[in-house]
Order: sequence, then C-alpha cells, then structure tokens
Amino acid sequence: MTLASADAATTTPAVSTLAIVGAGSVGSTLAYAALIRGVARRVVLYDLNGAKVGAEALDLAHGMAFMPMGAVEGSDDIGICAGADMVVVTAGAKQQPGQTRLELADRTITLMRTLVPQLVAVAPDALYLMVTNPVDVVTYAALKISGLPPRQMFGSGTVLDTSRLRYLLSERCRIAVRNVHAYIVGEHGDSEFALWSAANIGGVPLREFAAATGTLTDADLAEIADEVKNSAYRIIDGKGATNHAIGLAGVRIIQAALRAERAILPVSSLLDDYLGVSDVCLSVPSVVDRDGVGERLEFNLDSSELANLRASADEIRAAARQFGF
Ligand code: 2OP
Repeated sequence: MTLASADAATTTPAVSTLAIVGAGSVGSTLAYAALIRGVARRVVLYDLNGAKVGAEALDLAHGMAFMPMGAVEGSDDIGICAGADMVVVTAGAKQQPGQTRLELADRTITLMRTLVPQLVAVAPDALYLMVTNPVDVVTYAALKISGLPPRQMFGSGTVLDTSRLRYLLSERCRIAVRNVHAYIVGEHGDSEFALWSAANIGGVPLREFAAATGTLTDADLAEIADEVKNSAYRIIDGKGATNHAIGLAGVRIIQAALRAERAILPVSSLLDDYLGVSDVCLSVPSVVDRDGVGERLEFNLDSSELANLRASADEIRAAARQFGF
C-alpha cells in the first residue's frame, strides 16, 4: 500500500490555512477554538518565543484525535504564515489590572510597524483580522502601514462585547441567547455603547418586549450596558487576561469570512461616511464575506446614539493621531 506523503496536506491548494500571530493566552485559545470548530484545515501559530509556540502547537496536536480533520504547526519563523488564507494578529502588550485598552497603544503600534510589513510580505492575499488591543487604533494603524485595501484588514471590534450583551440580556429575559439580537457598537473600549434602538428579542423590538414582560427597565438596560463595558476589567482583575470568549468571537468572524457566509457582525473596519463618520476604524454591524468586510448596515439611530457614535469615533481618531496616524 502506498500512502500520500505527509506534505500533501500543506501543498494541496484546497487546504485552507489560518495563521495566528502570537501564542499567548488569546492566540492559543483562538487556535484551540479554531481547531475544534474546524474553521480551517491547517492552523499555524507564529510567535517570537520559539519554545512557547512549539509547546502550544504540540499540545494542540496531541488533541487532534478528538477534533475535526486538521493540522497544527508552530514556529518562531514568520515564514510559517506564508500563503495563509487568513491571518489573525493577537500579539501585543498585555493589559494590566486597571489599565485601559487605549493605554496599550504606544507599545502595540510600535510592534505593528515591524510586524505588519513582514506579514504582508509573506501573505499578501490573506484576510487580516486584528485582535490586539486597542483593536480599533491598531486596525487603523495596521491598515495604513500595510497599504492593503480596507476590506481586507479589519478588527474583532465589538463582536465580543456584543456577545457579552446578548448573554446578559438572555439571562435577564430568560430567552435563549440565539434569539437575542442586540449590538454593542463604536470603540472596543470605554466609549462603546449599546444600540438599543435596533435591539430585538425574537423579532420583537426590545423596548416593546420590556414593556410587555416587565423584565427590563431603562435602569436595567443602563446597568447591563455598564456591565458589558466593564467585563474585561473584572476578568483581568480576577485572572490576569480574557481569553475564552475572545477566542470564540474570533473564530466566529473567521468562520464567517472563510465560509463566505455574508454574516452580519460588528467588526471594526475603516468607515467612509457611515452616518457621517469617516476615516476611523470602529465597529458597526457589517457584512463579513470571503473577501472581507463589505456593506455596513445603516440604522435610524436616535440622537443620543448618533452622538455616542461620533464621540467614540473622535476618541479613537485622537488616539491614532497621537501616534502619527
Ligand atoms: C476583552 O474585552 C481585554 O479586549 C479584551 O476581553
């Protein structure tokens, strides 16, 4: 009996490759979730720390018997990302207890200045998902550094915050989370806000649902939005980092892109006159497809939501300008 060579998996064009940059807690959790969900046939991890990335890849490979078909490799050579269909960037400074995401900008932007050109050199056609914080500023800076078309590079944005919001609403209303539709938009950070005017439970507008069931007062909604905003601080205080939910949120975005789903997700992307907001990366509900971020959904925001969107854009833009972007 003749068996195909072990190299076949890595040379067959149909094999999709997901490259994950950074083998820290977010990168390795994302790799784990990606393999379990089978979103790419081959997952490669790149990190400057060769011992760590090798160990993470080996640990994941030892679980392959319990996963859908897949392969995983790790290296401290960026060449491992060559030809990837999608590159996810998780490398960057670690948020300390009490520190805001924007306070990480200096260190992470310095890193992006060297990392992004190297990645684009080996994977020019990949879709790029930025996860590193402050994700909106990092996405904007990386996009400018890369010279890639805006649809090709975007950030995980408020997909995670939106999932936190849906979870909390689901608990409060006692309705399955998949039937709870609501978005957190704007910055993935302190100026984010809930788009209550577009929220619904099983198709019933949220405010109508709240009035009919008596489950949610305006004070409850404000408390929930606040809890979402402060979730990461609480988790970082308790365990030093967030990793599980961001890993799953990242994989949801990767799946939408690699499977050409045209799913609507609040990813962070470069806006061009979105309700009057331009030249900034932030999250609004957007179509994610095989060629990246497409159309953004426009809503009739109420006046306070519109003011919040503009304030959030100003905040992110000011942070980017500070670093010459
Ligand atoms: C999070 O929201 C820290 O941005 C990270 O979990």
